[in-house]
Amino acid sequence: MTDLVILVGSVYGGSVEVAEAVAEAVEATGLSVEINEEPNLASLEGNSVVLLVSSTTGSGELPENIQPFYTELQQQPRALSGRGYAVIALGDSSYGDSYCAGGLLLDAQFADLGAKALMPLLKIDALEFFQPAEGISDWLTAWLDALKKFSEKG
Ligand SMILES: Cc1cc2nc3c(=O)[nH]c(=O)nc-3n(C[C@H](O)[C@H](O)[C@H](O)COP(=O)(O)O)c2cc1C
Repeated sequence: MTDLVILVGSVYGGSVEVAEAVAEAVEATGLSVEINEEPNLASLEGNSVVLLVSSTTGSGELPENIQPFYTELQQQPRALSGRGYAVIALGDSSYGDSYCAGGLLLDAQFADLGAKALMPLLKIDALEFFQPAEGISDWLTAWLDALKKFSEKG
């Protein structure tokens, strides 16, 4: 079992780059990380902390590769009480009301299932960051700290 599983929802690969940047930093602390670009319910087996990194497409929809996972979670809800998680939402604020809607859907679903948010949701705005991985630096410091504290609690 890995310490952290990163579930990615992406259309153009920006969220994959963000996931890889987080994975590299977490692995440097000695924790093990798995990145999954085709998530499903089986991705939640074990007790790994879950990081969801997803963009938004269409008018506030999840990317196709992560939509089935979200549907599965709604149709066959799993108790995730005590499971630590966080969400990084890539979006574009010029979309107005649907800004980062995909990440917000995942965040609400995990919270509904009783998972514990280790960090507030991080939004990365394409208008601000041409390279989305540049949008995580402050978040990353706090995340490594939160992850360490959560792992120590066992
Ligand atoms: C066709 C299309 C629709 C989009 N719809 C939204 C949207 O509804 N809300 C939002 O915040 N961003 C939207 N975006 C912006 C993407 O979420 C953003 O560019 C993101 O960084 C892409 O990440 P990815 O490469 O992982 O897919 C849209 C982008 C495209 C091309």
